[in-house]
Amino acid sequence: MSRIVILTGAGISAESGLGTFRDKDGLWTKYDLNEVATPEGFARNPQLVTDFYNARRANCLGAEPNAAHYALARLEAALPGEVLIVTQNVDDLHHRAGSKNVIQMHGALMSALCSACDHRWPAPAVMHLTDTCPACGHPRTRPDIVWFGEIPYHMEAIAEAVEACEIFAAIGTSGQVYPAAGLAAEARRNGADCVELNLEPSEISRVSQTRRYGPASEVVPDWVATLLG
Ligand code: OAD
Repeated sequence: MSRIVILTGAGISAESGLGTFRDKDGLWTKYDLNEVATPEGFARNPQLVTDFYNARRANCLGAEPNAAHYALARLEAALPGEVLIVTQNVDDLHHRAGSKNVIQMHGALMSALCSACDHRWPAPAVMHLTDTCPACGHPRTRPDIVWFGEIPYHMEAIAEAVEACEIFAAIGTSGQVYPAAGLAAEARRNGADCVELNLEPSEISRVSQTRRYGPASEVVPDWVATLLG
């Protein structure tokens, strides 16, 4: 039985029409991440941040999973073993493609969070600053996104899975944001085979024994076909 952990990033959703962050034309070339993706930015201008994530949610609702998302769902269903997807993406395309075992370490666009009582609920398509928490009634709702300076979700479960896996694959991530970026090296130290699937070499390349470069919609189905024989 094999255990595979797959770290995904914005590159896997690029061909679904969702922008990446650091590529030419990426989101962080158009927006100042300090203003839209930090707790301090939200405190300074909550409307700007709410509008930013409303726009991203609208893009996500209009997008469809691509061949790479579907290939990973096929792998989970067919592999006699365990497949865990640890995604940095806040879109829901892995779920919509049929993957079940998914951790969204940077939060989820489709979830709302109450900063008064930590209750979570499905986000409406458009969030408003005046929305109240269905559990405690406070009007202190925010997108359920892990901002810079906050701790990613489920780190303990992720660390356990990374320690136990035989194969670790990084797909469509630049490997520039920690702690996600350190997971490949950690898996390698624990004896896993590390695989990098990306449009081009990234920070993950130097710890990867296997590297395949090209659009995710091509390299991911090919890799899955190899694994499933
Ligand atoms: P980046 O934008 O940093 O990196 C995207 C990677 O995907 C790059 O290495 C591209 O070469 C690659 N790529 C682009 N198109 C691709 C395609 N069609 N097929 C395969 N690869 C492709 O995005 P992330 O690494 O996901 O965090 O960024 C990590 C985190 O930084 C995000 O979760 C987000 C961001 O700030 C927060 O907002 C907290």
